[in-house]
Formats: sequence, structure tokens, C-alpha cells
Amino acid sequence: MINNLNMYIEGANIPVMTTDGTITKRVYFNNAATTLALRPAIWNVNANIPLLTYIDAPGQLGKRTTISYEDVRDRILDFVGGDTSKDTVIYVKNSTEAINLLSELFYQEDPEQVVITTAMEHMANYLPFISRFKTAVVAVTKDGDIDLDDLENKLNTYKNKVKLLAITGASNVTGITPPIYKIAKLVHEYGAKILVDAVQLVQHRSFHMKPYDDDEHIDFVVFSAHKCYTSFDGGVLIGPYDFFSKYKPFLDGAGTTKFISSEKIIYSEPPKRYEAGYPDIFGVRAMGEALKFLENVGLNNIAEYEKKLYHHARRGLQSIPKVKMYAQDSKQINIPYIAFNVDGIYYTDVANYLAYNHGIEVGAGTSGADLYVQSLTGVSPTEAYELYVKGKATGIIRISLGMYNTLSEIDRFVDAIRNL
Ligand SMILES: Cc1ncc(COP(=O)(O)O)c(C=O)c1O
Repeated sequence: MINNLNMYIEGANIPVMTTDGTITKRVYFNNAATTLALRPAIWNVNANIPLLTYIDAPGQLGKRTTISYEDVRDRILDFVGGDTSKDTVIYVKNSTEAINLLSELFYQEDPEQVVITTAMEHMANYLPFISRFKTAVVAVTKDGDIDLDDLENKLNTYKNKVKLLAITGASNVTGITPPIYKIAKLVHEYGAKILVDAVQLVQHRSFHMKPYDDDEHIDFVVFSAHKCYTSFDGGVLIGPYDFFSKYKPFLDGAGTTKFISSEKIIYSEPPKRYEAGYPDIFGVRAMGEALKFLENVGLNNIAEYEKKLYHHARRGLQSIPKVKMYAQDSKQINIPYIAFNVDGIYYTDVANYLAYNHGIEVGAGTSGADLYVQSLTGVSPTEAYELYVKGKATGIIRISLGMYNTLSEIDRFVDAIRNL
């Protein structure tokens, strides 16, 4: 069982001053937005700054830099259970860029195809498809889960036209984890592929893409390093090398080609073909180090510990009548996030009260999952627009816990809400 991981986290224990002048220890419950930084990741970067050179540069430092940069791809594949002989890892700025890239490649494949996405998604897994394709959006149930009947209906309705389902591996609002393997199997029966947005999953639970010959294989995966405790840019798009070798770069520039003359362009093989411009040497280095740390602690240990945190927070909030939590009847909450509102108090006021009066940082708003938050709060699209125009947009308060948060921090937070 893990304990006291906060000593490995930069900024987890810093003092902050509240409005009445009290100095208190900061509590950070906004890990779904970005996690705080792991010290080993920062140390690793700092130690290597004096050795900075370009990757592929001639000489021993160039060789060292290139090897450490490339080796992280293998660590990532291992981390998500990818197939080293079939999958490739493309480094991108973040998951948003990864999903835009994938959407663009599917567009190159067939602009007329239908993409299915869901009403649970962060907008990063919705807008890149809405803007390019005819899309079908799977509804969520009243408990906040993916409506599997609706998914099957949509697959049936758009049979032979659907080539991709884009779905989250874990909601960034409620911590619900849709049954992605069951869904993958269903999607494959319809001849389509599945993209799992694992941005809120891989730092909390062990995740596996499963073998290619398994019906439950996950075809494409994205995640972001800054949500895995690096504090830097860096994200990945993982999927079949053969798929990526068919298309043209989304961003053009240095590295994407292996030969150019005024008469001819030959593109690099993937992943380089999709990595235009300056490589994110330190972001990648930090990602490798952070994933190593998570593996050493053990994802199962992290999941077990975070479950305790979640239940403690949930019990605390349940004991306060003016708190309304969302989606708590779901049986699929596996990530320690809770979305709630407080009767009669606007969500930004609650969040500001927590931060200014108690030094407790939480998320407030739609957390980028606009459709999902509207559905959870029971606000129709028309009402949502009217509220937005009035300057009272729909939203929730979200606590998103991480492996280094503690029960006593949760007690402080619950007391603060009780005294609101
Ligand atoms: C579920 C989910 N997907 C995608 C993203 C986008 O991640 P990034 O901002 O790192 O591109 C987020 C960000 O919060 C998210 O929560």
C-alpha cells in the first residue's frame, strides 16, 4: 500500500496565504486539469540540461540524446501494452494535437465516412471530428454512463460508413470508466476501429491495448504527459505503423521527409513523418521518467489507494445535505474524481471560496466536457445557451485526486464545504 507520495511531488506541500492572512498548506485537487510535477522527472531534466544537443547530432552527446529520446517510445509501448512489432508511438504536443492528427489521417482516408463519438467526451475528443466529418454522438444514461444501446443503434444506422469510434477511457468529470474492451469488441464487429482517449486513465489504473488478434484490441490510444506528473508539454498518439505509413504529414517541416529536391519529396517513415520541427527533448525525457515512477509504485497500488481517497471524499460530501453530487449511481466510477454543486451557490463562487479562504484548488466549469456537464446537470442545449448569454453558464465543481493526495486533505476540504 502506498503512503506519503507527496514528498515526491513538487509544490504539493507549499504554504499559501488565505484571505484572512492565515498561512496554510496548499491542497491541490485539480489533478485532472494538470497534475503537479514529480520530482524525479524534474531532476532528470535538470541533470540533462547541460548536455543538451539536437537529436541525431553528430558526436557522443548527440548519440546519447537520440538514444534516450527514442528509448522512451519503447517504455510508452510497454506502459500501454502496445505491440512493438506493429505499433508506433508518435510524439505530439498533447492529446489535443494527437486527436487532431488522427482525425486528419482518417479524413485523408475517406472524408465521407461517419465517425462516432460520445456525449461523455472532453471537447478534444469531439471537436476534431465534428469539424471534419458527419458524426454521430452516443448519448449518456441518467447515471452518467455511456448508453450502450444507443452505441449499438448508431453502429447499425451507419453500418459500413463508420470507420472510427472515438471514446474516452475515463471521464475527466465523473471518473467513470466506460467498458472499453466490450465496446472495442462491438466496434470491431462492425468493421470499425476504436480510439481510446486515455488522458485520464493511464496515471490511475493499469491499461493494456491487448493483442491484435484479440477482439478487444484497442487500435489507437492517446495520452498527455502533463497529466502524468511531468509539468511539461508532450503527448502521444499510438497505433498501427501500417496505418500511419499510408498518409501525409498533418504538420509539414523538418524531419517529416527523408529526401527533398525541387522535383521530388520522399516522406520519412512513421513516427518521424508526423513529428515536424524541434523535438520536445525534455518533455519526452520527463515523460519517460514519470512513467517509470508510476510503474515502480505500481498502477494497481495507485488504483487501490485512490479508491480509498474517492470513497472518503464521497462519504464526506454525502454527509452535507446542500451538496449535490453527480453520477454517483454509476457502477463504473474507477477514477477518483467527483463533480458536484452546492445548493444556491454558483460553482465559481464555491471554487473561489475554497481557494481564497482555504488554499484548496479545485476545478470549476465544464472542465472541457460541455455536453456531458449539460447532461449531468439536466440542462438542455437551448437552456445552456440562454444561461451562457446571461453570464451564468452551466458548470460543476470538480475535485480530481491523485496518488499523492491524502485523507487529511480531504477532511480539510469537506470541512470547508460544510462551513460554506
Ligand atoms: C479526457 C480528456 N481528453 C483530452 C484532454 C485534452 O488534453 P490536453 O489538454 O493535454 O491536450 C483532456 C484535458 O483535460 C481530458 O480531460
